Amino acid sequence: MVGKSRRWPDGKQKPRTTQPAARVHALRHALFAQLGGFFAVLLIALILVRVARVEIAGILIVLAMLQGGIAAIISSRQNAPYWWLLIHLGFAPLAVIVQSLQLASGWYLAGFLLLLAIFWRTDQSRVPLYLSNRATSRALLDMLPTAPDHIIDLGCGTGSLLSRLARARPDCHFVGIEHAPLPWLIARLRTLSLPNVTIRRGDFWLESLAGYNFVYAFLSPAPMPRLWEKARAEMTPGALLVSNSFEVPGASAFQEVRVSDHRRTRLHCYRPNKTSDFTAFPGIPPGPDQE
Ligand SMILES: C[S@@+](CC[C@H](N)C(=O)[O-])C[C@H]1O[C@@H](n2cnc3c(N)ncnc32)[C@H](O)[C@@H]1O
Repeated sequence: MVGKSRRWPDGKQKPRTTQPAARVHALRHALFAQLGGFFAVLLIALILVRVARVEIAGILIVLAMLQGGIAAIISSRQNAPYWWLLIHLGFAPLAVIVQSLQLASGWYLAGFLLLLAIFWRTDQSRVPLYLSNRATSRALLDMLPTAPDHIIDLGCGTGSLLSRLARARPDCHFVGIEHAPLPWLIARLRTLSLPNVTIRRGDFWLESLAGYNFVYAFLSPAPMPRLWEKARAEMTPGALLVSNSFEVPGASAFQEVRVSDHRRTRLHCYRPNKTSDFTAFPGIPPGPDQE
């Protein structure tokens, strides 16, 4: 059973969910595939050494590719998503190639620290860094309230979106919360000259959404149920939650804005707490459930 006594970092009780169990399951499957590939190749290597007197060092990369291939086959038999196949295919060959470069061990540490500074605790948040593009910024600009207002970007990344919006709407105040150190630093530096932007380093789950009329999130499918719970509990009536790409399971968006960009971005618009006053967002007509 998952999560009965566990709490979110902000102290709230975690809802019962199968997600962490599914994550452990996926990791167990991945480990099984890797080990399967490893032992199969170990057996082949032993036969080659004993019977054919082959020098292992000369065929290490071939063995690594074989291991990756076997692991990928096992993974596909497990019906794992395609990216696991790519990871399995590349893992051992890349390890052999990098090992052959004979880099000083400090480089590995530096690489790890750099990735940590960029992606921080993606293993927990399940939200990696990718950025809203310009076309999305333009679509969002059309959706912003006409009057001066407070807008928040949950997980603002490098602040590229907020700096575009803040330049176009100096009458509004924009807040960005980001927990990953490097994107946060870039966002801070990028918006230093913009008085209508506040960038804070921290966990957006700890930020109350009560003071914002417009909440923007570009996250991943994983946190959407929890975000919806938070939005329903904290957002004021009529305030808008816009989710880039990821829908809230079980909630119907009153509007879907299609952005004409190469990734066919969709902005899912929700009013977690409805009201009859829609005049603040003239760019967004009320949906059928709100007329
Ligand atoms: C997909 S990116 C979106 C960046 C930006 N909002 C944009 O649209 O360009 C999501 C960001 O949320 C950050 N993030 C994820 N969980 C977070 C949390 N609990 N608190 C603060 N930032 C978080 C990630 O580090 C990442 O930079």
